Amino acid sequence: MALSALGYTVGATFALVIWVIGYRSRENKSRSLPPGPPPKPFIGNYFDVSKTEAWKTFSQWRELYGNLVYVNYLGSKLLILNDMESIRELLEKRSQKYSDRSSFVMAKYMGIEKNVAFAPYGPHWRQGRKLIHGTLNQEVVQKYYSMQEDISAKLLRNLVEQPSEVMKHLHTATAQIIASVTYGFSIDAPGNTSLDEFAETERMVLKGVVPGAYFVDMIPKLWYLPSWFPFNSIHRTAERGRQRVSDIVHGPIKQVKLEMKQGAYPASFVSDFLGEHGSDEAQRQQVPWVAWSMFEAGNDTVTGTMLVFMHAMACFPEVQARMREEIHRVVGTDRLPSFDDRERLPYINAAIKEVYRWNPNTPLGVPRKLQDADVYGGYYIPKDTIILPNAWLLSRDQDSGIDPGVFAPERFLESHVKKTALDPHGYAFGFGRRMCPGRFLADNSAFILITSMVATLRISKPKDSCGVEKPFDPPYILEGLSSFPYPFEVDIGPVSDEAVAVVKEKTTFMD
Ligand code: HEM
Repeated sequence: MALSALGYTVGATFALVIWVIGYRSRENKSRSLPPGPPPKPFIGNYFDVSKTEAWKTFSQWRELYGNLVYVNYLGSKLLILNDMESIRELLEKRSQKYSDRSSFVMAKYMGIEKNVAFAPYGPHWRQGRKLIHGTLNQEVVQKYYSMQEDISAKLLRNLVEQPSEVMKHLHTATAQIIASVTYGFSIDAPGNTSLDEFAETERMVLKGVVPGAYFVDMIPKLWYLPSWFPFNSIHRTAERGRQRVSDIVHGPIKQVKLEMKQGAYPASFVSDFLGEHGSDEAQRQQVPWVAWSMFEAGNDTVTGTMLVFMHAMACFPEVQARMREEIHRVVGTDRLPSFDDRERLPYINAAIKEVYRWNPNTPLGVPRKLQDADVYGGYYIPKDTIILPNAWLLSRDQDSGIDPGVFAPERFLESHVKKTALDPHGYAFGFGRRMCPGRFLADNSAFILITSMVATLRISKPKDSCGVEKPFDPPYILEGLSSFPYPFEVDIGPVSDEAVAVVKEKTTFMD
């Protein structure tokens, strides 16, 4: 009896130990981080990641580590999401935890975090987003149709008259659209905040939200070094940035206020909210920051998209010809295309999707920060991990059977392929609660600019003085989070005398 009691006790103890070990190992397993390349001390995987095309490195790592790849980048924890399933689950279904943005010492001091796109997930962001939604939702954006058609026609005239200045004219046209919506003024009018000033601040802002761009973001304690400390320029740089951001945020508002005082001013986001029937005081304080957020997020993204379009047109003349054939068949050649034509232009609509897909403007989205630790797919994801959805990899899907490197609108047409490609509207503009609120305006701009250009202008690879094609392989640059080809040269000229006449007629009374 005593023996069997002892045996029972030993057996029970043994079972308990086995259970505890099993539980621990299960717990450890459930707490293991997602796989990723082994990090080096301090710098982590810094030298393993391409500085210009990080999305390609992350895509190669998918082959080795799977859809979730955990990377240590200069001490920051990054989680790359390489498939739609994990993106949907985390950024959409669990958006309560995954809608924050990463915070940087420099960006915070400079005021960049008051920009809606970089604001922490909280009341300031929510209020800003609400204001933007009221100005840029799918119904409201229709009121900008005629402004977008006019700016597009003016672009055509500029390109007919000065084809060699294509980069400048394109940039001005896209800036005009977003400036009209936000501030109601002309971006290149004398005395107004110039495009160059916006561009310079933009470069600084984008630097401020990229991990590792400023040393102090890697070692935040450096902020507390006294300013007199040898070689310490942190505070001077931060102060210069803060001043520049403040100027760019408040300068245009002063202009709008002045115009409002003088009585004759165009309606805009700013004038609506600053006018008599506008907002309460808290909203008024936020209006300058929201206006800047819209201008900053809505300018270079559309320009970059248009540059990808031009690159594609020069490389794939047969697609350009098919696009033009559809426009001329549906719209005719005696007028410029308008928004009313859009529904009847399926090939054009597929070509616009193809522009978003061929070289996505924001290949890794805008990074998110995880607010609380989470578990997904059996892996533990620590609090504050920076989450990067690999939109570029989604754009490489091969469901349609057409090579992803080829510019082929056919991949989106049921009449041409058994299974259509993944729709880029589902990944090019982000996900969940922080999905791009400017996507309807952006898509309308892309439609009218692309359709009008193809209808009237022929875009081709550059030629030398003997008419021989020059080598053409535009370099893509990464500006902050956006990737686009720049600068590059293309040959551009009217498709016919009739096209020139149509453009001139439409723009005669615009000056
Ligand atoms: C083709 C052009 C554009 C592309 C490809 C684009 C793409 C994106 C992407 C990927 C995001 C990040 C979304 C996320 O975190 O999941 C974003 C955010 C944002 N976009 Fe766009 N965008 C474009 C045009 C515009 C325009 C025209 C505007 C405004 C007028 C705009 C305003 C914003 C704002 C304010 C945010 C921040 C949203 C937030 O953090 O809540 N974008 N955009």
